[in-house]
Amino acid sequence: MSSPQNARLLRALRRQPNDRTPIWIMRQAGRYLPEYQELRARAGSFLNLCRTPELACEAALQPMRRYSLDAAILFSDILTIPDAMGLGLAFTEEGPSFAHPVRTAKDVTRLGVPDPNQELGYVMEAMSLLHRELGQKVPVIGFSGSPWTLATYMVEGKSRSDFVLIRAMLEENSELLEQLLDVLTEAVELYLRAQMAAGADVVMLFDRWGGILEGEQYTRFSVRPIHRIIEALGPETPRIVYARGGGECLTEICMTGCEAIGIDETVSLSAAREEVGTRCALQGNLDPAAMCLPEEELRAAARALLVEYEGQAGHVFNLGHGITPDVNPDQVTALIEEVHRFDPGALA
Ligand code: CP3
Repeated sequence: MSSPQNARLLRALRRQPNDRTPIWIMRQAGRYLPEYQELRARAGSFLNLCRTPELACEAALQPMRRYSLDAAILFSDILTIPDAMGLGLAFTEEGPSFAHPVRTAKDVTRLGVPDPNQELGYVMEAMSLLHRELGQKVPVIGFSGSPWTLATYMVEGKSRSDFVLIRAMLEENSELLEQLLDVLTEAVELYLRAQMAAGADVVMLFDRWGGILEGEQYTRFSVRPIHRIIEALGPETPRIVYARGGGECLTEICMTGCEAIGIDETVSLSAAREEVGTRCALQGNLDPAAMCLPEEELRAAARALLVEYEGQAGHVFNLGHGITPDVNPDQVTALIEEVHRFDPGALA
């Protein structure tokens, strides 16, 4: 596969020197953009938007037209896999929910591994279109939820819950939980492989909810399935693990073999750098709340992060979590300009 002209992201992920720090933004295609609101209205719903490859491709291209970003990300959601497993996904005001959550041994046994080119074919089509539009210019990121994060949604049946049900499964029937994680591990591996075949230059695993586990439970239920996927995919396509709440376990996440760890805003970037050393690149971690500060303060916060990283190799600038719908799109222009303008040479 030919590599994109702008290879800054790929170089940073491999901890190679760069002329400047690459930047992209989690949820860069989304509700803060008026053109996205318009496109979603045209599609009728968020799910229709995801399921119509031409529109999903257009959503991913919107921020690329407006901004000088160093990567595009597939427009989709992490819940496509459970949806393809037949759980009946819906998005309401309260967020995602499933008509048929997974609670019993029978529910787990019934789950099949979706064929990424059949049930999830619309995702691969969106990826192919995006790659065709952009692949020569900038890298395209494919993604999936981590098995643990997908399992939390599948068992709880909705978001913003207190995780009572998945915790009960973990305590009372950990074999069943492992069986569920095994099916998801296989599904995620196939899904990411298919995205790579359709043009993804980088793949990213979103472990949104690993942070609710601690110690051995984090290792067993969150990290181990990720490790298996990273290992199975191999190093040819760089692999990012976004570990929200994983700040205490960076060494352990490094050991999965990923090229980069996405860190949230609660972690100190310099401390994270010190801990992982040269084993992994780091992606992050501006507080999403900084996007709503007056422009000069936003610029200062971005500079502070870059200074903290000291211009070393292996940094991908991003927020610590997705950009929120209340952000003024002009703030993103200012942020990107500030990151592009930064001259590590001036630190010496
Ligand atoms: O980063 C990107 O621009 C790529 C697209 C992307 C979306 N969701 C689009 C989306 C990605 C990578 C995700 C990941 C995702 N989805 C995660 C992991 C990271 C995170 O944000 O925590 C999770 C937990 C989900 C599940 C999900 N999807 C929730 C909880 C919600 C509702 C709440 C919210 O933040 O919007 C969604 C909806 C969603 N996913 C939207 C978008 C653009 C908003 C849909 C809309 O237009 O209303």
